[in-house]
Amino acid sequence: MTRLLALNELDSFKQVNGWMHSSVPCAVDAWADYYINELKENFSSTLEIGAHHGKLFLVLEAVTPLPIECYAYDLFEDLQSLNIDSSGKGSKVNFIENVSSIAKGPDRLIPIHGDSFSIRHSQLPHRYSLLSIDGSHTREHTCFDLQYANDTISPGGLIILDDFTNPHWLGVMEDTLDFLDNSNRRIKPILAGYNKLFFTTISQASTTLKAIDSRIPQHLNRLSTLKGHVVRCAFSPGHSAICSRLSD
Ligand SMILES: C[S@@+](CC[C@H](N)C(=O)[O-])C[C@H]1O[C@@H](n2cnc3c(N)ncnc32)[C@H](O)[C@@H]1O
Repeated sequence: MTRLLALNELDSFKQVNGWMHSSVPCAVDAWADYYINELKENFSSTLEIGAHHGKLFLVLEAVTPLPIECYAYDLFEDLQSLNIDSSGKGSKVNFIENVSSIAKGPDRLIPIHGDSFSIRHSQLPHRYSLLSIDGSHTREHTCFDLQYANDTISPGGLIILDDFTNPHWLGVMEDTLDFLDNSNRRIKPILAGYNKLFFTTISQASTTLKAIDSRIPQHLNRLSTLKGHVVRCAFSPGHSAICSRLSD
């Protein structure tokens, strides 16, 4: 059984509190298989902004080769007064409990507390292969987090932006559209689905999209465009969907 299939079927993983759509692991796995086995890029590190209790983080960790470090950046308990749009309430206690019992390499997981507005001044490595943005959903934070992701993602790396299509958090869409108007960018969107928008670096975008397409054909819907960028619409073929593989 593959690592992600095993993760999806673990009762302890199912019980982790969070908001991840159950098809997201398939897209992440498809990208990781391409990035690691075909593109043969050196994996830099993994980061989630807004790790909460670790639901999506555990998926990101599962595809990150050992012993590469995985960082979780959140306000956690101590800084909730800065959670200005009440987008979930991160808990370091719950996060550590979950990753300690479920992650494949709990020792390489590094939780850091802070407001993402301060992320450039943190101890993070500022270079990532895999980065999820799911902290504050205000327009200003989205602007800041997306720009940070743009500046720190490695060539061919994957950025996952949450709630792009969620009407409860229109600031995410509002800022993303502004960001796409800016020609001074390294990244572009390639896949939309499961309440997420997935980006990679411009030079690697068309090969990455083809690679994901070929790995999860059962998820594919039509091609669309977003501000002129060709974006694959992905949908969920069923929640027991087929995650192809994952080696350790
Ligand atoms: C919607 S939850 C994240 C869900 C998580 N990614 C999952 O897979 O279930 C949002 C998280 O962002 C954190 N957060 C809110 N504002 C933040 C900010 N300004 N900087 C960093 N984290 C923030 C919250 O504490 C909360 O844990």
